[in-house]
Amino acid sequence: MNHDRSKHLFDKATHLVAGGVSSQIRVLEPADVPLFFTHAAGSRMWDADGNEYIDYIQGMGPNLFGHSPDFINEQVNEDMQKGYIFAGQFERELEVAEMVLDMIPMEDATVRFASSGTEIDQLLFRTMRAFTNRPKILKFEGHYHGWMDSVNWSVHPPLDQAGPEDAPVPVGESEGMNPSTAEGLVICQWNDLEKLEKAFADHPGEIAGVITEPILANTNCILPKEGYMEGLQRIARENGALLAFDEVITGFRVAAGGAQEMLGITPDLATYAKSMAGGFPISMIVGRRDIMDYIGDGTVYHGGSFNSNVMSIAATYASLKHIQERGSDFYKDLNEKGRYLMEGLRDISKSLESDLHVQGVGSVFAISFTTRQEITNWRDHARNCDDDKYQQFAKEMLKQGIRLSSNGRTHLSSAHTYEDLDKTIAAAAAVLPTL
Ligand SMILES: Cc1ncc(COP(=O)(O)O)c(C=O)c1O
Repeated sequence: MNHDRSKHLFDKATHLVAGGVSSQIRVLEPADVPLFFTHAAGSRMWDADGNEYIDYIQGMGPNLFGHSPDFINEQVNEDMQKGYIFAGQFERELEVAEMVLDMIPMEDATVRFASSGTEIDQLLFRTMRAFTNRPKILKFEGHYHGWMDSVNWSVHPPLDQAGPEDAPVPVGESEGMNPSTAEGLVICQWNDLEKLEKAFADHPGEIAGVITEPILANTNCILPKEGYMEGLQRIARENGALLAFDEVITGFRVAAGGAQEMLGITPDLATYAKSMAGGFPISMIVGRRDIMDYIGDGTVYHGGSFNSNVMSIAATYASLKHIQERGSDFYKDLNEKGRYLMEGLRDISKSLESDLHVQGVGSVFAISFTTRQEITNWRDHARNCDDDKYQQFAKEMLKQGIRLSSNGRTHLSSAHTYEDLDKTIAAAAAVLPTL
């Protein structure tokens, strides 16, 4: 597969754009060069050299309906004729608010819109601290909540720096972070209630809230153990702390009501972004009215020029309408496709005696290489998964026209066809023996 044009363009890009990319993860594209793309539609993408790919990155998750679906294009095009940003309210925003509050299980909740997952999580932390008048947020290793100083700690910390299992130390994910922000966090291991109890016992009265990805999509796509989420909610409540779900990946992807609906747990607050607008930039926090009132009356300051712009609201409206019109069939079909692909990959792995491992929930799952039956948290992943082998696998799959992410997270869209899935399984069967 020839990537000459991408190589030429990337060479040019490195003189113009820092590192040649606008988000650091893009340098890790599993190709011989970060690829340049000319266009994308549905499940497919085409690069600057004319190569076609079945895409499972799907914008790192937002493209729930595949690339550039007509129903979003049409709605955005129609609405944007009347203006882009009003810095004021408009009725479509209310229609979208009604739709999301209807779809998300929380009772008597309100919503506030913003523009990215990172910034909405900042608003979440501020709100939890203000409401409880406590200084710290409990965050888990392996979970990602954006790249800001306040929380970009211990996402995937090297184990030799991460401290003891039952009292992890915060490890910054970047140089240049404000070191004092670590003081606002308590780091804990996920999927382990004993360690959670200890973290609360070590910080009595200090923890404002717990933030968790309800399904750990940023590490091996791990589901909570049986009873873990119930225990997490109980322990948070007993200690006077709030429970927040970061549904930036799971929201509108795993079910209409996100992971809350799937797991049957209602947190106090939840944040959403990626899938809600099928690829347009928007995010939101949804939560208990009494907590959200802190944002509503300005006690917690929140702003943003691009918040609730016409195009993003139009795209959200079109996306949610599409889901609502299809009802539960939308998720049934999407998850069935995901399970078909997961099962197909598992079968191939078994028949070839490979250690390729698949774990997740259909519409989003992780591919890794491990001999373990199941991975349960970040330390488990770090100890037992061969990330270099996955990189090699993704590189070889790309040569077969299958575009996988550099971190193993695999996103299904409603645009993927069973033909796409069969091609992907056949590609894996060709690649695995070569690793
Ligand atoms: C769970 C989770 N929260 C927050 C974010 C940050 O969102 P954004 O990239 O829109 O800033 C991400 C991004 O991948 C995420 O996966």
